[in-house]
Amino acid sequence: MQHDLFDQNTSSGSETPSPVKERLDRLKSEIRRHDYLYYVKDKPEISDSEYDRLFRELVEIERAHPELVTPDSPTQRVGAPPLDELGKVSHERPMLSLDSLVDPQDVLAFDQRVKRELKLDRLDYVTEPKFDGLSVELVYEDGRFVRGSTRGDGTVGEDVTANLRTIRSLPLRLPAENHPPDHLAVRGEVYMRRDDFHALNRRMAERGDEPFANPRNAAAGSLRQLDSRITAERPLVVTCYEVMAMTGEPPASHWEELDALTAWGFPTPALRRLCPTITDVMAFHRETEQHRDELPYEIDGIVVKVNRREFQTHLGMKSRSPRWAVAYKFAPRKEITKIHKIIVSVGRTGTLTPLALLNPVEVGGVTISRATLHNADEVARKDVRDGDTVKVERAGDVIPAIAERVPIPGEVRSAPFTMPDHCPVCGSTVAREGAYYYCTGHATCPAQLKGAIEHFASKTALNIEGLGKKTIAQLVDRGFLRDLADIYHLSREQILSLDGFADRSATLLLEAIERSKRVPLDRFLYGLGIRQVGRHIATILAREFGSLEAVMQADEARLRAIKEIGPEISASLMSYFQEPSNRLVIDRLIEAGLIIEQVERAQSHKKSAPLPLAGKSFVFTGGLNTLSRHEAQTLVERLGGTVSSAVSSKTSYVVAGAEPGSKLAHAKTLGISILTEQEFLALVRQPPSS
Ligand code: IVH
Repeated sequence: MQHDLFDQNTSSGSETPSPVKERLDRLKSEIRRHDYLYYVKDKPEISDSEYDRLFRELVEIERAHPELVTPDSPTQRVGAPPLDELGKVSHERPMLSLDSLVDPQDVLAFDQRVKRELKLDRLDYVTEPKFDGLSVELVYEDGRFVRGSTRGDGTVGEDVTANLRTIRSLPLRLPAENHPPDHLAVRGEVYMRRDDFHALNRRMAERGDEPFANPRNAAAGSLRQLDSRITAERPLVVTCYEVMAMTGEPPASHWEELDALTAWGFPTPALRRLCPTITDVMAFHRETEQHRDELPYEIDGIVVKVNRREFQTHLGMKSRSPRWAVAYKFAPRKEITKIHKIIVSVGRTGTLTPLALLNPVEVGGVTISRATLHNADEVARKDVRDGDTVKVERAGDVIPAIAERVPIPGEVRSAPFTMPDHCPVCGSTVAREGAYYYCTGHATCPAQLKGAIEHFASKTALNIEGLGKKTIAQLVDRGFLRDLADIYHLSREQILSLDGFADRSATLLLEAIERSKRVPLDRFLYGLGIRQVGRHIATILAREFGSLEAVMQADEARLRAIKEIGPEISASLMSYFQEPSNRLVIDRLIEAGLIIEQVERAQSHKKSAPLPLAGKSFVFTGGLNTLSRHEAQTLVERLGGTVSSAVSSKTSYVVAGAEPGSKLAHAKTLGISILTEQEFLALVRQPPSS
């Protein structure tokens, strides 16, 4: 019976278990087993709807019997109320760090020293990836996760128990059948997968929050939250690689220790290798470095550990690091090169960004010839100038950046960099807002015009298929497009004169332009590219005002009365609509035949019934057969619902199409209703009257 694997030892209390409690315990152990199969083993055994059914039953029983809710219940991964500060935890044993080696000669010397001290001529090593995350200590009593902490200074760390509980791959309860020790302290690494990191940053940017610089910072920022409900929404994972303390005899080797941890339900390094010689260690290092970018997470080297525990004990430790293990790091992804010139690029909203053109240099296998300098303050802080020697850094697949200047004795430097007074593209005056400078040329600036048209034509705005970056650049450069409205006056001849266009492609583009003439208000507002007005705010405005005229007529006080609209957004809207050239473009778009579809207004119309999906939020995952994501989104929005890219406890439904992604799993653990495509269609086509 597989179920027994995750069953409890015995009931700890003296009362006879009631049928409800028995059912509850069985459900919890079943769900735990399926979580393990899904998140740790990556081999689910039941369908999503079966899982969903189990989870819902558990939620319902716990709702009816709140006294039976335990901290190790699978429902408790959603986070706890926020804390005032993180408490302190003394570690069971000091959490050591590792000596870092980069030079292969030093690794050979390490091997020599180990053999000399052990008086051996051969011994086994275990190699594992060095995960680039944060080290944590996890403590289990009687198979239950009771406490977890960050490394801190190695002796005392921060109590992040509630936050760790939200990590799905972290076992809250160990399988009794495999006899985990009564008391167990385990060390592991918490990190974020690269794709999850990018998705998180996109969500942060959409909300106007500052994105994280790299997955490591994102993991640290997420784990050290006072509000574990925020952590619950962050896609953290954990991998465990060391038993720090346990009751009973610890395994005789590191290799067996990893197997034991695996049997107790912990995720362990899948890439581990038992290496009988130091040459094998070198090979593991080489192979892992070669395949580094194919891994879904960041690693910055490998860890080499003497396998046998008795040898480890014999070798002992220094003050802060063991003498039986080392980190063998990869060549840094930082290289030295020269700045050829600092130029300024102009973005869609007119922001000027300093950009360093570099003498091309290979950093971690990729040739880099430009690096962002973010803004003028950063250039000043790093004091980099034309001709300077600098270190460039590539953190994962994040845009390369200048890490620091490398001073060269006796060098003659050029003058400090200053932002131009006039836009390098159109010559308009440059204005300043805090650390940011921007071109005041708006649509008269070709750089801004190209960006504005790209945005307007993009999938999420007017969705003009075939009107991409390259085509737009040609159309602007040839003077065929001078504002957004010109799109609707393009002739077949003009299109045919562009590189890469023939009869058929020109027809397709003209058809796509024609199709885009019917557009819902929210997409139109978003497409205008008003600063601070992303998709979410555009939807709110459309719902609140219903028509474009009403939005354009709203004064500041009226805008500010809307919950999510603060002073910056309202100021941006006011200045956009007050600008005569913007009003002119809107008039010309309407003259060209654009039909801006009114949106049913929220609540305010007392007489009209509330929209059937008002207050409901949807998340889509996987591919749909009968309609595109955009069509699905439009259907939801017309009925008053919202669509978001990420699952949270506020999500009402997750629609799972073919090959759903991690969002489905996330939704399941939060107990969110999951719909098939058919169920979704039934809902939007025949909405319930509630
Ligand atoms: S073993 C006594 N193994 O690297 C052994 N550490 O200073 C201690 N790390 O802070 C650590 N992956 O957070 C070990 N597979 C791995 C690791 C690993 C990442 C981190 C750990 C530590 C740092 C080295």
